[in-house]
Amino acid sequence: MKKKFNILILNGPNLNLLGKREKKIYGNISLSILVNDLIKYSKKLNINLSHFQTNAEHILIEKIHKAKKKIHYIIINPAAFTHTSIALRDSLLAVNIPFIEVHISNIYSRENFRSHSWFSDISNGIICGLGVESYKWALKIAAQRLLKKNN
Ligand code: DQA
Repeated sequence: MKKKFNILILNGPNLNLLGKREKKIYGNISLSILVNDLIKYSKKLNINLSHFQTNAEHILIEKIHKAKKKIHYIIINPAAFTHTSIALRDSLLAVNIPFIEVHISNIYSRENFRSHSWFSDISNGIICGLGVESYKWALKIAAQRLLKKNN
């Protein structure tokens, strides 16, 4: 039987408010609708997908530590922690799980402070500015990479 890979999507602070928060920037789709769509898509890709959102930095870090044994790939939108959290960066380096950094908005076309990320240089790649579709593209690429590695 073909091995099934586990991908974890992590969302940082305020992304629980998707669909309600700054709709011009982040769109109208709620996090639960987005996650349901991504789970449907992951079935087509033959991937086990899990999702976790928290507003707390230490909880995100603990989730990453626990991912070490079972998660093959992470897709992370660190939200505001993108621009502030060396601790979160270090947790991804510690577990050494490959990851893609995702942003709904184009962080390079907004306030200056958003154009620095503590994650980009250690990520496998960044998808940003394509709205919530960014997650779908990241999932597709992550699945492709895992399946290729397994051949
Ligand atoms: C974000 C961009 C960040 O600058 C911001 O703090 C967020 C969301 C995005 O998805 O566009 O909360 O990561």
